[in-house]
Amino acid sequence: MSQPDGTRIVLASRPEGRPDPGNFRLERAPIPTISDGQVLLKTLYLSLDPYMRGRMSAAKSYAAPVEIGQVMEGGTVAEVIESRDPAFRAGDIVLSYSGWQSHAAVAAKGLRKLDPKAAPVTTALGVLGMPGFTAYAGLLAIGQPKPGETVVVAAASGPVGSAVGQIARLKGARAVGIAGGPEKCAFVRETFGFDAVIDHRDPDMASQLAAACPDGIDVYFENVGGHVWDAVFPLLNTFARIPVCGLVAQYNATGDFPGPDRLPLLMRQVLSRSLTIRGFIQREFVPTQGKAFQDEMTRWVADGTVKYKEDIVEGLEKAPEALIGLLEGKNFGKLIVKL
Ligand SMILES: NC(=O)c1ccc[n+]([C@@H]2O[C@H](COP(=O)([O-])OP(=O)(O)OC[C@H]3O[C@@H](n4cnc5c(N)ncnc54)[C@H](OP(=O)(O)O)[C@@H]3O)[C@@H](O)[C@H]2O)c1
Repeated sequence: MSQPDGTRIVLASRPEGRPDPGNFRLERAPIPTISDGQVLLKTLYLSLDPYMRGRMSAAKSYAAPVEIGQVMEGGTVAEVIESRDPAFRAGDIVLSYSGWQSHAAVAAKGLRKLDPKAAPVTTALGVLGMPGFTAYAGLLAIGQPKPGETVVVAAASGPVGSAVGQIARLKGARAVGIAGGPEKCAFVRETFGFDAVIDHRDPDMASQLAAACPDGIDVYFENVGGHVWDAVFPLLNTFARIPVCGLVAQYNATGDFPGPDRLPLLMRQVLSRSLTIRGFIQREFVPTQGKAFQDEMTRWVADGTVKYKEDIVEGLEKAPEALIGLLEGKNFGKLIVKL
């Protein structure tokens, strides 16, 4: 018999521009029953990530949207509370993709068991999970930083940007971060060890970035677009590589982008400076880089070579506001909801 005990958050309507809390609905839901090959999960932690804004929209993208009335998607760390699969038993902690809900019945196949003694389980959603992998694969496969080169990355206090800068330094490059506000900038410099950090809210940002990159930019790991891209573009060196990972500055944009058409200028520079601009979705690199990431990043995090910061919000009902804030830089580190 199912009991009406769980909670979940569904997409109530599609946002136009900036989402608001009314686009989400908190519901009570019966705790599901499981069949053979499934496990019943109780969510411990839910990951909030910028891509979720895309799932709220019906616009064509690399992944299908969440339908109205459907549970919002998302990566989770969960506890198995009942199992009908021999590979799992009650009490196991797993990495799942069970979304914004307190309980879920999911196929056991595809779940990854986590060892809480090896690393804090929340790291499976951040530095040792999808965002860390995005940084590792995008930087090494596309950015290919070389000793002495300059690597620039924005959203530098977040899970992707902070890992990009630290891995760049491990490869012998100079890491220049861009972040919003003095507190984030200080953290990126002092804790993540970037060589220089620029505050993108400073009106003088473009000239500060030029001063911080006296030899130009060899790798720009694109996380944000917008005015940061405008400041980076004139500084790109011949043969610069630009892994295009995300464009968070425009995820809430509606209609056409303002300003003159700069595509001809972009194409001229792609040609004359031999730029490589290459977009990617991290999962394409799982077959080629997944194992190396797990081995190397696990070691770097365990011995303190790579540092990380988490921003943990308590309560599933806080998830909508936290996601809205993430798109505006209100998070400080990997954003996670503790249920
Ligand atoms: N391609 C892939 O497979 C893949 C996978 C994962 C993530 N991503 C992308 O990687 C990027 C970073 O993800 P994350 O999870 O590490 O996010 P995050 O850094 O935790 O959060 C996003 C950050 O973006 C910054 N930001 C927001 N609006 C901005 C603006 N207008 N101008 C400049 N910065 C702005 C904010 O930091 P500040 O306050 O410092 O500005 C905010 O904290 C996102 O674009 C995401 O979509 C791509």
